[in-house]
Amino acid sequence: MRVVVGADHGGLDLKIVLVDELEKSGVSVINVGTDSTESCDYPDFAAKGADTILSGDADLGLLICGTGIGMSIAVNRYDGIRAALAGNEFMARMARRHNDANVLVLGGRVIGFELAKEILKAFLEETFEGGRHQRRIDKIKKSTS
Ligand code: RB5
Repeated sequence: MRVVVGADHGGLDLKIVLVDELEKSGVSVINVGTDSTESCDYPDFAAKGADTILSGDADLGLLICGTGIGMSIAVNRYDGIRAALAGNEFMARMARRHNDANVLVLGGRVIGFELAKEILKAFLEETFEGGRHQRRIDKIKKSTS
């Protein structure tokens, strides 16, 4: 599995921890930055993450900012991206099973490292259930086309 990972300065510490976790579990990581503590703009990293998925170079994405809110708003503007901001394991599981989310968004300043690891693991373990959930996603697609 290939996962694109991006963060702004507010998500950098958590990104470092989760990249290490992903690599340890054999996931191929595409790191699009930031790798600096300097203040930067989360939409730039949302764009890099979205482009990497939409071009087919990654299967899923992980994006992190301070709260996760800005990154969610920014990346969900890209057609074909379904990003879920998850604060617990259940939300991450449902995001994959029911919403076919292809990006997990986390708030680096609002959750601890261990919880974030569990949320990420849950997101990667699950698959989309299809069926009635596909119908609902089709309705979302229709509403934006
Ligand atoms: C950066 O200070 C902060 O605004 C950003 O990381 C994020 O939380 C925005 O939603």
